[in-house]
Amino acid sequence: MIINWYPGHMAKARRLIEENLKIIDVVIELVDARIPMSSTNPMISKLIGSKPSVIVMNKADLADPAVLDEWVRYYKQKGRHVIVMDSKGGRDIKPLIALLRSLAAPRLEHWKARGLKNRSIRTMILGIPNVGKSTLINKLARRNAAKTADKPGETKGKQWVHIGTQLDLLDMPGVLWPKLENQLCAYRLAATGAISDTVFDMETVITQLVRELGQWYPDELKKRYKLENIGAKPLETIDMIGRRRGCLVAGGMVDLEKTYKLILKEYREGIMGAISLDRVADFSKGADV
Ligand code: G4P
Repeated sequence: MIINWYPGHMAKARRLIEENLKIIDVVIELVDARIPMSSTNPMISKLIGSKPSVIVMNKADLADPAVLDEWVRYYKQKGRHVIVMDSKGGRDIKPLIALLRSLAAPRLEHWKARGLKNRSIRTMILGIPNVGKSTLINKLARRNAAKTADKPGETKGKQWVHIGTQLDLLDMPGVLWPKLENQLCAYRLAATGAISDTVFDMETVITQLVRELGQWYPDELKKRYKLENIGAKPLETIDMIGRRRGCLVAGGMVDLEKTYKLILKEYREGIMGAISLDRVADFSKGADV
């Protein structure tokens, strides 16, 4: 599947990160917990270098808890700090703040020794579009946040979000492109809604999605669509789902377009259950975190 989508802002995003990294204490890298590797921007780990950082696995409410645990172990083995998060829901934000504080402690001590006692932690949230950056900022900010106006001489649109005296978030415009050159990642980004529906071939994405659902989550698929069996091929399963849900055209044929949209919507909204697509085993050889 060729996904023909090349956002034009990546150079700008890269420059903004590079320019601002030196004033940042801890970087938050946000990934989609259902596809943590596919939703990683390949550039982030190189850019942040030795700067303290946290991987926040967001949308954990939509991810398979067992697969999520595997990923947490994987990241920890790689020496990364990781937090599981549901920015939209009720999951406690305090463990993330505590981790940010402990990672920022050496730099805060440094500033304290120079007389700056109550300096806030400065953090930057990085992640591909739709991974939940704004939602996390809102959750962190709750009602305490106040966006400051752009400072003169600073890049237009760059804003500090002050959260009490504890935390300053640098909210930056710019797009970090996802891994589209890897076809497996591209399909999973499309399936989860990380990239616009207009830029991929729906049939290819849904066929692959139903293939993987049939392989890893057959019970969820059967339960959701009241199927007795999964088809031997994804197209058979799609046909069964279309019939079951009454997506038909004149002559009794399945309306494939309508069925694709239904499957995609129900997967993205978590209606089929908590389902992960990236598995550690897919990426364990040569994975770049
Ligand atoms: P971005 O800034 O990184 O581009 O992402 P943004 O916060 O705009 O979030 C993209 C979508 O993901 C939003 O849905 C948001 O509600 C949803 N989202 C963010 N975090 C979570 C999470 O932890 N769990 C779930 N289930 N969803 C999350 P939307 O459909 O674009 O808008 P809406 O549903 O908020 O109206």
